[in-house]
Amino acid sequence: MTEPNFSQYREAAHLSGQTRYIPDLDLYQGTLIGYAVTSPYACARLLHLNISRVLLSPGVEAVITAQDIPGPNTMAPIIDDEPCLLPVGGTCGYMGQVVCIIAADTRENAIKAVAEIAWEWDVMSPVLSVEESLEKEDFLFKPLQLKKGDPAEALKNAPFRERGSLEAGGQEHYYFEPQAAYAVPLHQGGLLIRSSTQNPTDNQRFASALLKMKASDIEVQTGCLGGGFGGKQSQATWTVAWSSLLAWKTNKPVIFILDRDQDFRITGKRHGFKATWNVGFDGQGKILAVDISMAYDCGWCNDVSLAVLHHCIFHVDGAYYLPNLNAILYPCRTNKPSNTAFRGFGVPQAISVIESIITQVAQILDKDPVTIRWKNYYGIKKNNLTPCNMLVKNNILRTVHRRIVQKSDYFKLRKEINIFNKSHYYLKRGLAMVTGKFGISFNESFLNQAGALINIYRDGSVLIHHPGTEMGQGLHDKMRTVVHRELGVSTTYIRVSDTSTSVIPNTTSTAASTGSDFGGAALKDACDKLKKRLHPIALDMMGLEKGKLVWENDAVSCKEAGKSIPFPQLAFHSYLILESLSEKGFYKRENIGFNLDTMEGRPYWYYVMGSSVAHVELNLLTGKFRILDVWILHDCGEPIDKGIDLGQIHGAFIQGLGWCTLEKLITDPSGRLLTDSLNNYKIPGIYELPKRFHIELFEENPEPLNIHNSRAIDEPPLVYALSVWFALRDARGIILPIPATSEELIKPLYNEK
Ligand code: MTE
Ligand code: MOS
Repeated sequence: MTEPNFSQYREAAHLSGQTRYIPDLDLYQGTLIGYAVTSPYACARLLHLNISRVLLSPGVEAVITAQDIPGPNTMAPIIDDEPCLLPVGGTCGYMGQVVCIIAADTRENAIKAVAEIAWEWDVMSPVLSVEESLEKEDFLFKPLQLKKGDPAEALKNAPFRERGSLEAGGQEHYYFEPQAAYAVPLHQGGLLIRSSTQNPTDNQRFASALLKMKASDIEVQTGCLGGGFGGKQSQATWTVAWSSLLAWKTNKPVIFILDRDQDFRITGKRHGFKATWNVGFDGQGKILAVDISMAYDCGWCNDVSLAVLHHCIFHVDGAYYLPNLNAILYPCRTNKPSNTAFRGFGVPQAISVIESIITQVAQILDKDPVTIRWKNYYGIKKNNLTPCNMLVKNNILRTVHRRIVQKSDYFKLRKEINIFNKSHYYLKRGLAMVTGKFGISFNESFLNQAGALINIYRDGSVLIHHPGTEMGQGLHDKMRTVVHRELGVSTTYIRVSDTSTSVIPNTTSTAASTGSDFGGAALKDACDKLKKRLHPIALDMMGLEKGKLVWENDAVSCKEAGKSIPFPQLAFHSYLILESLSEKGFYKRENIGFNLDTMEGRPYWYYVMGSSVAHVELNLLTGKFRILDVWILHDCGEPIDKGIDLGQIHGAFIQGLGWCTLEKLITDPSGRLLTDSLNNYKIPGIYELPKRFHIELFEENPEPLNIHNSRAIDEPPLVYALSVWFALRDARGIILPIPATSEELIKPLYNEK
């Protein structure tokens, strides 16, 4: 078989700049531009709205307000508190909430038309901090609580008790393709929508509901996203909804792309939080009880906050066995964009707290935090139940710990750092470790399902459809590899289709790092069925009655009979004898879930684990720092694609580094987000990267519960960036907020004499 064209590979297309995102599409003639008109206040009641002059503005073809929506005015994914457009009489929840949408011939004309809006607002003062929300007990849903043992009693009796607190900011997703969708009316009614989304099915669900159409009238297709990182799980629905409404109204194609500053202002971010705790421990550093309270900044409405907080509360233990625990999570309403999924989905927040507790215990006892970790890890035979009573299986925490301590030569490095710090006045080095354990699956049980479809063509080439979306995480390549391993067809002959709700219905969002678990297993199911049907045909073609077949090297062979037929021949012959070459697959994970009242159950299918160590050098005069080394050892089971997995670890770490040390969101007292571009919001660049990366996969821990014994990879390694943050704390000798920006790192110097 011949070598493929370079651009045939999506990921190569990515690297060579050939991938076409929504803004790169060739548009149908007459396509209109959609534009969002947003509230100028963070908290205000819309008293009047008059759009008549907007309609007269040059180039404007349609304006849609809440009252024009045929179906229910909602886009709320879980709890119904989020209108698609703010109705007159309604109160806006943040500065940037969309009031109406305009379709015009050009972007310039759409923007000009905004000035023609006549409206009146009753402006109120916004709530911008979790403290205010806590004080008013203004929560989006009932606070979550997870309790185990008798934390109050255990705290009372503990030889040591300490209080602590931590404050962390949010994080902008900064996907390089902003939120975008293109809705095209179909000649038989309904719409075809190209969307930059992690969740085509939810897009379809809301477009059809808003337009009072049937789901089958709407097809959502997704090519390749220019990044999602969680930001396109629920909130990609918005540009889909708005473009669909305008396309329906005008009966013309409408493309809706948020400007970067609009994207910053309108869409939600990672949840910032404030946490306080009380920890009880013994003289050896064994934790006896923890009482944690976290106030989550959810923004103005629910979005997926309930799910994020569930994921967080199931990770407040981190990698540690806590015999007594009380954790309360408050979902605080603030007049900010509605915070949403972001890589890690509440887990980085949880890990930052429990690892802070570990570090604090070490400081009080004057021990290295590494020894405190060792004391408290989940055990294998005992101390192996999480606070929700899930068994921690395949536990490699101590193995990974031991290995990373060795690899980094931790204790030697610690000595060297002590010497360095004694002999340097304003340069200080720091060292820290972080260990994580991360549950995989959707806590919501019905989301744990996936369909797939495989078409084999008569020339032997294969087209696969799976439910996941490709956003740069290499999912399509992994899916191609799974089918290649199963059918033995070379990857150059396997093409992965764009994701479409018309081909695979009722998909779950490509999220929670489950894309390859779900898609892979569903595709394997389809391959198994195909092989079962083609098996007798292949035997027949070889002139055999029975025999074991192997599917590899683009052929099907019976080793004991020494016979083989090329895969394309098998495909063509099957076609001729009227055998279907198409097969669907399905996968489900049953028995996942938990009791909402007791919080007990099995929220995850399995865990992934790993450790990192970071070595930093901080300049106390400038607050600038260099990351000298980062070691990461991460469990990925038996990887489906080692290169992709390593790439994801690097990417997740760097993204986490942004959250921990650089990316600071600033809102002014009126509720305006001041940091709305890369001019004032710093994401990691090449200069911030560690001097030396030492990243390795831990490959000796296969996951029998998952496709080809692999483990999900794509979000968990983000938490390793916290090792840099702890190393800075170690160098500086003070407790830092997240992000520990240079400003923060020099701040206390001014307070000292
Ligand atoms: N990697 C890239 N390059 N771009 C992304 O948008 N999203 C992350 C992660 N890695 C993302 C990424 C997030 S938040 C998730 S949940 C997973 O990829 C989703 O992909 P998966 O389900 O295939 O793991
Ligand atoms: Mo990822 S935050 O689950 O899209």
